[in-house]
Amino acid sequence: MTLKLGVLASGRGSNLQAVLDAIDAGRLDAQVVMVLSNRQDALALERAASRGIPSIYLPPSDYPQRPDYDRKLAELLKSAGADALLLAGYMRLITTELLEAFPGRIINIHPALLPAFPGLHAQRQAIDHGVRFSGCTVHFVDEGLDSGPIILQAVVPVLIDDNEDTLAARILKEEHRILPEALQRMAEGRLRIEGRRVIIE
Ligand code: GRF
Repeated sequence: MTLKLGVLASGRGSNLQAVLDAIDAGRLDAQVVMVLSNRQDALALERAASRGIPSIYLPPSDYPQRPDYDRKLAELLKSAGADALLLAGYMRLITTELLEAFPGRIINIHPALLPAFPGLHAQRQAIDHGVRFSGCTVHFVDEGLDSGPIILQAVVPVLIDDNEDTLAARILKEEHRILPEALQRMAEGRLRIEGRRVIIE
């Protein structure tokens, strides 16, 4: 069934773009029904607006209590008809207000092989730690930081002369590949969460 996807994004929105491209190419049975951002200057908002997708900047300063902000997000997403939520470079932690509005239906993309290097600057963390391989993870969102059940991962090498930017670029390519893939599995109803594990049927 066509996935009615709401998207939260804080930045340039290249993952959102990968999702839109996959939809256009017929590789992803989804419709992006709304894009919301906590940043007015998020390029993601422009990308969505240029395609006629409702795109809204919701200023966090209007909602000093985080749950109130998330309740408003949930309300807007529901009114747009969203039945799943994608965090595509959304740089805020979400609260139970959103988790309960989309139980088991929130997906995040993270630029490291979780559970290694959660949180900010995952690529720099990987370089600083000296790992030979890193990558990206598409996972369900739970109440923790980048801690939910893992759907798909992709691996890239970390080269000796990599810096944060070169590694990020190599990882981003894989993000753009596995994110639409994971969403398509969700659209097909093939993802089942069993404890920490995601079964792909
Ligand atoms: C990506 O690296 C994603 O993994 C992380 O934030 C970045 C967002 O990039 N969560 P973009 O806004 O999708 O281009």
